Amino acid sequence: MSSIAFDFTGHTVIVSGSARGIGHGLVTQFAEAGADVYAVDADGAALDAASFPASVRRRIVDVTDTASVDAVVADAVAATGRVDIIVNNAGILRDGMVWKMSDEDWNLVFAVHLGGTFRFTRAATPHMRAQGFGRVINVTSYSGLRGNIGQANYSAAKAGIIGFTKTTAKELGRFGITVNAISPSASTRMIGGIPEDQLKAMTAAIPLGRIAEPEEIFPAVAFLASDEAAYVTGTVLAVDGGTSI
Ligand SMILES: NC(=O)c1ccc[n+]([C@@H]2O[C@H](COP(=O)([O-])OP(=O)(O)OC[C@H]3O[C@@H](n4cnc5c(N)ncnc54)[C@H](O)[C@@H]3O)[C@@H](O)[C@H]2O)c1
Repeated sequence: MSSIAFDFTGHTVIVSGSARGIGHGLVTQFAEAGADVYAVDADGAALDAASFPASVRRRIVDVTDTASVDAVVADAVAATGRVDIIVNNAGILRDGMVWKMSDEDWNLVFAVHLGGTFRFTRAATPHMRAQGFGRVINVTSYSGLRGNIGQANYSAAKAGIIGFTKTTAKELGRFGITVNAISPSASTRMIGGIPEDQLKAMTAAIPLGRIAEPEEIFPAVAFLASDEAAYVTGTVLAVDGGTSI
């Protein structure tokens, strides 16, 4: 899919969880649109193996680790002079019924989704405030909007991201920083584990009748990241073929 409609030349972008899936698509398309892009992931082997445009900088960062998150933001500012756009996309699943869920699976899902979103936002916003410009785009989920059996940890963390998005939108708006969320649906490893019959039923329930490719998420993110979206903040934009209607 072409990203020709968007021009992010002179903008520095950090995308977490970008070795594969939705994040991989975002990195590729932001780079094609002229941005200086940092592809960040905890999985170094997958990051090495990822096919990105040559300009993309790869950094191994676990979003649960404050020092690593702070370091990559400092690195981006030192190298490019700016940090304009943060996409908090890193994610994991540790599904299970609530009565069987371990503390470890509860805490890890929160540390990655909600904690990672917090840590990157905290690290980037002093620079964004100094610039008088910033775009934070958080990735939530249908599960956070509506709940989903087996995902008490994930849905609570994703719902938390919506509250975090709205509060930080209120805190940061006067500095020219917008904070929004997307609720995507796309064919990635994350839905690769769904059994065939369930996937069929899931697809049949999507108003647009199909599951998107990861690359189809970029235009919505690019809009929220654009200079033109300056008056859009605190929203949750579903990019899910109508699933959450
Ligand atoms: N695929 C969907 O349909 C769907 C639906 C709703 C929400 N989401 C959300 O979209 C985001 C991307 O999901 P995806 O489907 O592309 O999944 P994915 O599993 O393909 O990619 C997630 C990436 O995050 C990385 N990651 C995991 N833990 C990390 C950590 N601690 N630090 C840094 N990186 C880490 C993984 O290594 C992986 O490369 C997630 O936040 C997910 O919850 C996806």
